[in-house]
Amino acid sequence: MVVLNARLSALCALLLAAIADAQSSELSSAVSASSAASSAAASSSEAVSSILTSVASSASLSTVFTTGVSTASASVSTILSGTSVASVSSAISSVASASSAISTAATASASVSASVSAAPSASTASTGPPLESTHLTIPISEYPFTSFPVPSASPIPGVFPSTSPKSPPPPGSSLIPDFGPVWKAAHARAKKLISGWSLEQKVATTTGVGWMGGRCVGNIPAIADFPGLCLEDSPLGVRDTDFVTAFPTGLSAAATWQRALIRARGLAMGQEFKGKGVHVALGPMMNMGRIAQGGRNWEGFGADPFLSGEAAYETILGLQAGGVQACAKHYINNEQEHLRTQESSNVDDRTEHEIYFHPFLRSVQAGVASVMCSYNLINDTYACENDYTLNELLKRQAGFQGYVMSDWGAHHSTLAAVAGMDMSMPGDITFNSGTSWWGANLTAFVQNGTIAETRVDDMAERILASWYLLDQDQNYPEVSFNAFFMNDPATNAHVDVQADHYKVVREIGAAGSVLLKNTGHALPLNKPRSIALIGNDSGPSSRGPNGFSDRGGDDGILAMGWGSGTTQFPYLISPLEAIQARARKDSSGSQVSWFLNNWDLAGAQATALDQDVALVFVNADSGEDYITVDGNEGDRKNLTLWGNADNLIAAIAEVNRNTIVIAHSVGPAIIEPWIENPNVTAVIWAGLPGQEAGNSIMDVLYGDVNPSGRLPYTIAKSPADYGAQLITGGSGADILRIDYTEGLNIDYRHFDANNIDPRFEFGFGLSYTTFSYAGLHIKPITHADRTSAALESAWAAGKASPADEGAVAALWLHRPAFEVTFTIKNTGAVAGTEIAQLYLHFPNSAGEPPSVLRGFQDIQVPAHGSAQGKITLSRYDLSVWDVDAKGWRKPAGEFTFSIGASSRDFRLKGTVPL
Ligand code: BGC
Repeated sequence: MVVLNARLSALCALLLAAIADAQSSELSSAVSASSAASSAAASSSEAVSSILTSVASSASLSTVFTTGVSTASASVSTILSGTSVASVSSAISSVASASSAISTAATASASVSASVSAAPSASTASTGPPLESTHLTIPISEYPFTSFPVPSASPIPGVFPSTSPKSPPPPGSSLIPDFGPVWKAAHARAKKLISGWSLEQKVATTTGVGWMGGRCVGNIPAIADFPGLCLEDSPLGVRDTDFVTAFPTGLSAAATWQRALIRARGLAMGQEFKGKGVHVALGPMMNMGRIAQGGRNWEGFGADPFLSGEAAYETILGLQAGGVQACAKHYINNEQEHLRTQESSNVDDRTEHEIYFHPFLRSVQAGVASVMCSYNLINDTYACENDYTLNELLKRQAGFQGYVMSDWGAHHSTLAAVAGMDMSMPGDITFNSGTSWWGANLTAFVQNGTIAETRVDDMAERILASWYLLDQDQNYPEVSFNAFFMNDPATNAHVDVQADHYKVVREIGAAGSVLLKNTGHALPLNKPRSIALIGNDSGPSSRGPNGFSDRGGDDGILAMGWGSGTTQFPYLISPLEAIQARARKDSSGSQVSWFLNNWDLAGAQATALDQDVALVFVNADSGEDYITVDGNEGDRKNLTLWGNADNLIAAIAEVNRNTIVIAHSVGPAIIEPWIENPNVTAVIWAGLPGQEAGNSIMDVLYGDVNPSGRLPYTIAKSPADYGAQLITGGSGADILRIDYTEGLNIDYRHFDANNIDPRFEFGFGLSYTTFSYAGLHIKPITHADRTSAALESAWAAGKASPADEGAVAALWLHRPAFEVTFTIKNTGAVAGTEIAQLYLHFPNSAGEPPSVLRGFQDIQVPAHGSAQGKITLSRYDLSVWDVDAKGWRKPAGEFTFSIGASSRDFRLKGTVPL
């Protein structure tokens, strides 16, 4: 009963606070005209009803009051299974009679729930988009709000080296770095720093200065001796300034499947961010490409959690070795742009762990300093006030030691602090509103006892510990640019940070190009006498490389998508420029002609006629929702190539029997209209390669680089073949309902599970040579140390891993347990790189897709030579998430695996000796 009373009074405090939130929100919505304002207001005015709904939708009040945080997930599942509004209302009345304070709030809530009940429900989906009938916010957390323990075994040299972000293990190393000790030291320093600070000072570390309140896209003010923080986009370089490198996109980096290149890109970017004085780089981005049309997929690393996780890991180790804090985003389930601030991604716990959380877990393992919570709701609760995903998954289960910042304007309440958010960005409720959920409001909530001061201590400590983790207290460069006024002489020093990073850009551009078709040795080009370059994508934009703000337009060579995930190009080499330089080099010379208009098919045909080869450059673009390009509101409105491309290719193939297509694309496109045309002799999927685009593609076309890129997603024959689709519709305050019903079966897993033939499968890519595979061996790895013997035996016996704090990132679970070796022979006459891939086939009892990627390695093999491949598997790799036990468990039965050249081209088969 004592517990009940304590919980009741906590609930009352939260309710009153929620009302205060709602009131301040009304105020803010009155002064704001932006759409972000209305979504913030909508969310907060529902805060009261949300708490009560969360209470009422549970089976019994006592369950709620005694289970604390589990309420959130319990009530989510209740909602998902269809709690009726009537039962919610009647439960609200019983709560109301429990205390007069609650009763007042219940009255307020009842009117909200009445308006909620009037909204269309999922059952009316046939006449419109699927909509949520309600959404929840802010459960009562049971956590003590101290930093969670470091998930560390004692460092064992050569096994778990204690590692500083400055000196991570080399790319591809099977050594598991243990950042625990450095985090611990950084937290101790942070604790000491803030020990003398006032509440207001601590709150100041958590609250951005407001939109355009500083020189960077996000800014934390200077406090005492702490100089503050500059936060700046993007995942492919330093945004909103000059003399920086425009790196290949995340998707192009992932398409290399080469860890060393991904690390090198991260390091070079990290050095540039630091060189400009940025403390926090807002990347990498790990949205999963659940839907092919997703507008920002190109910022991320493709449609498989393992590939995305490896790329995130290497990128973060690189960025932070360069000195900047990385920010893993967007956490989590932010898979489409359409109504991204008003959609609930409804995801079951196993799918969340196995698919969407995995890259974030790898980010934590890389020592990532910060995580950005996303715009959307997850299971009816906004990502930035989602106790389950923030406190439970990220901080408790994975033991994340850094801080969670909101996406820009994704912060919806003062109480988000209780749910695990640590930093408000950009700090004001809506841009330039002059109001903030935190700042003075957070101080007031602490002073009136609603939020514990220890929580604010923890927030400030996490932020400052991350600053110490990267040694940013020592000689860190001053911010030398102004993201909002790039030409203001007073605030821009135009510091050149590019060094020789163009080299890694060019290399990744080539290594991330995927050769999809090559008949009759059409490629590599062999000193063709006459070359026609066709298509707008082969030349420069008439507006220059930065002619569209945030790259929000498609004209000329496409080398990145649009939105905040961009940089200014310092220059942009188009194929047209690169090929002319190349033609000049060929001793007998080549005649180069071109035609850049995609709509004048007769003109294009006349140019391509009688030429030795016609290179047709086409593209498909997408981006972030605040810019619409040609009717594409961020997400692509269809999966066809842009700019009349299909007709252009058909027209050229009609007049030229050696038509080679090169596509710069944000993701998959439907290429059925022409892929089997015999006159289309070769096809290269060239990604979005950054400033050296033209040089990179020439390297591949001419064979200076033997292509080794692999598709990081599936190219389907029809859009309907993909397992999940963009959800459109909705307006006003609607909350779109996006049920992840495909569960684990995203991308290739769906095609495999349903026997759908793709056009080109995940992992596919050709080379100018061929490889054979032989000599498969697998053996268990025995450890000289006995650090984790007991845990390992329990796992082998089928017990789920412990549910302790930090347990999901525990080193024993992730250290190599099996070693797979094999031999790759280059059976051709040119040197090449094979991307060997390991797909695991779980036993039937596991309920897993037929094949899941669990390893890959880039193996360079000289012409006619051989090389050995080695891939390790951890216990984590061989586990499924056990929802009930909250741990990773080995399912019963036989595990087999395949090593091969794609998700469907298996060359060797083995069994895991468990
Ligand atoms: C984007 C983030 C970005 C932030 C700051 C948001 O709209 O979703 O990815 O980092 O803006 O520009």
